[in-house]
Amino acid sequence: MAVRRFDLEAGGDTFEFLNETEDKISFWLGKYPETKKRSAVIPLLWLAQKDNGGWLSEPAMREVAERLEMPYIRVYEVATFYTMFRLKPVGKSHVQLCGTTPCMLRGANDLKDVCRSKIGKPFQVNESGRLSWEEVECLGACANAPMVQINDYYYEDLTTDSLAEILDKLENGVAVEPGTFVDRQTSAPQGEAMTLKDPALFDGSVPKGISALPNLPDEKPETQLKSLGDVNPKVVKAKSVKAEAKAADAAVEEGKPLPEDNESRQRPEALSEPEKGEPDHLESISGIGPVLAGKLNSLGIFHFHQIATWGEKEIAWIDDYLSFKGRVERERWIPQAIELAGKAKS
Ligand code: FES
Repeated sequence: MAVRRFDLEAGGDTFEFLNETEDKISFWLGKYPETKKRSAVIPLLWLAQKDNGGWLSEPAMREVAERLEMPYIRVYEVATFYTMFRLKPVGKSHVQLCGTTPCMLRGANDLKDVCRSKIGKPFQVNESGRLSWEEVECLGACANAPMVQINDYYYEDLTTDSLAEILDKLENGVAVEPGTFVDRQTSAPQGEAMTLKDPALFDGSVPKGISALPNLPDEKPETQLKSLGDVNPKVVKAKSVKAEAKAADAAVEEGKPLPEDNESRQRPEALSEPEKGEPDHLESISGIGPVLAGKLNSLGIFHFHQIATWGEKEIAWIDDYLSFKGRVERERWIPQAIELAGKAKS
């Protein structure tokens, strides 16, 4: 933080709040118990600054300390910490120019050049006494960067031209309406709204919430799984095994005739019964649920090692029979079966 020193000379020896400020002081003091009235130090300093031509002199800070019955040094600490309090005389319009990253990336450095050429050095009041400026940290209007605060108001989405015009007007005593200086409403997109444009969203015709959002992945779960699996197979594994198995079960059509073998598909080799009378727990393969396991058993497929040996043609046959459209590969049945068969052996 920059070193901030106040101007001892310029402040004179006395300070008095304006009469009309007394009500505001009472309002702020009324917010705190008598024993905690020093909590009002920031609003009282703010009021003192306004009554002192936009900056805090030493007598003004002493007056605040007296009103709040707190040591002067405590008031001084607050006033020198917050850049909202100015410690030197300022122009009638004091420009606080945000130089923090978002504003800097959007041209704040060029705006500083405008201030230097139109006003002078930071904290130097110009000849007419109408303008002064300083650089401050983020003022919380980054969406409208670059921006400045002039006295109590924000001037946003500035360019060198628009800031120069504002300063010229203020220098000539012409008031300038605050707000954005481009074609947008507050922080809305420039030009026209880009999202939430469907009138149905606002006329009550959408029954319960929004049924489909734009830009979601393909609604088909298998397509989503494929993209996930392509990136990281572990992600597929981490998906709810139960949900996958349920989806697979739902895909099994009852009473469907067995497909004929042809040059692109071949029925997987079948066993008449499980080896040693005990089938493997096929549901351990992510994507196979109880119904599908039963279906595979009815096809003579009881063991991981059987599935582990399937080639393209066997996979095509199973895909065809179970209307899977590639699920065996997408769900990586074969690598899973190889791993599980290895474990079953050991
Ligand atoms: S960075 Fe300038 S307002 Fe936030």
